Amino acid sequence: MTHRDETTGAGPTGAGTGRPPSAHARAHVHGHAQAHAHAHGRSRGAVGEHRPAGDPEAHARLLDLDARLHADGAAALLDAVAAHLDAPVRAVVDLGAGTGRGAAALAARFPTAHVAAVDRDAAMLARTAASAAEAGVGDRVVPVAADLDAPGGPAAAAAAVGTPDLVHVALALHEVADPARLLREVHDVLRPGGLLVVVEPDGPPDVLPDGVGPAGLGARLRAATVDAGWAAHPDWHDAIVAAGLEPLDQRPWPLVREPADALVGRYAHAWLGHVRDALGDRLEDADRAALDHLLAVADPSRGPAPDGSAGPSVLEHRDDLVLRTSRTAWTARRP
Ligand SMILES: C[S@@+](CC[C@H](N)C(=O)[O-])C[C@H]1O[C@@H](n2cnc3c(N)ncnc32)[C@H](O)[C@@H]1O
Repeated sequence: MTHRDETTGAGPTGAGTGRPPSAHARAHVHGHAQAHAHAHGRSRGAVGEHRPAGDPEAHARLLDLDARLHADGAAALLDAVAAHLDAPVRAVVDLGAGTGRGAAALAARFPTAHVAAVDRDAAMLARTAASAAEAGVGDRVVPVAADLDAPGGPAAAAAAVGTPDLVHVALALHEVADPARLLREVHDVLRPGGLLVVVEPDGPPDVLPDGVGPAGLGARLRAATVDAGWAAHPDWHDAIVAAGLEPLDQRPWPLVREPADALVGRYAHAWLGHVRDALGDRLEDADRAALDHLLAVADPSRGPAPDGSAGPSVLEHRDDLVLRTSRTAWTARRP
């Protein structure tokens, strides 16, 4: 039976600093031509299109900031997941691992486990290796190159680390071509009693309160991302059941960050820069100009920010930003 619960991912975090990736990532290469053919850019969803267009460095910084902001909530989720796992956890799979902050957190939470971090993007796999090394778990995180749009990714991951006790898919299930097939593959590779955890954003983050920029700017920018189908996904409950998995828990994961948190301005800059890169041509001229003003470097003499971004922007100097976002996490078990 599905238990619906609540958790709040609030509170300051100190993880991840967006270091450059190691040029020597260990990659367990899954034998598909597609594994590298799709390594850069295209990202298709069954119910929407979210192509991380623009600067890959900027996209990676956004993912890292996202992971830092959600670190406390992610830790709470993994604690809840661990409570469902009795045997020692030996093998974990993270599908659509991105910059690898999630895979590193999984390895830290389950110290007896090896974690296969699967992505089709070679640059993301290199970042994963760097994130794992930075977190001190580089010896237990194994990057696996595989395109999850083709069959075989979960099996390739299991070949790298062993039959998984836990498969984790964060912000990625909505991006694959056939989520139902992927969920069936996950069922087939999990050990009996093993768990699936799916995390998805409930929508684009809200980073601009009224009064920042022209009236209604924040709402129009959010609407542009919704129109573009970013992060659109169904309630995965039925697909999880159809794959033969038993739902255990479905929990909302809200996050509100006040202006006092220095990460809010940086996150707003990273998110809106991503929106500008990917959707700028869909915006009204006045909104695009307002967005460009907010993203402009406020004080070039201060040089690049520590995370490598251009420098403190107009946005990062504001003290009236509030970040509101929410996710949903599903946990299910292979009977
Ligand atoms: C939005 S990022 C999420 C990354 C990470 N899980 C996180 O929570 O920060 C989605 C990731 O899934 C990967 N991805 C999307 N479609 C994929 C596919 N068909 N096969 C393998 N990886 C895919 C992308 O390359 C990207 O790194």
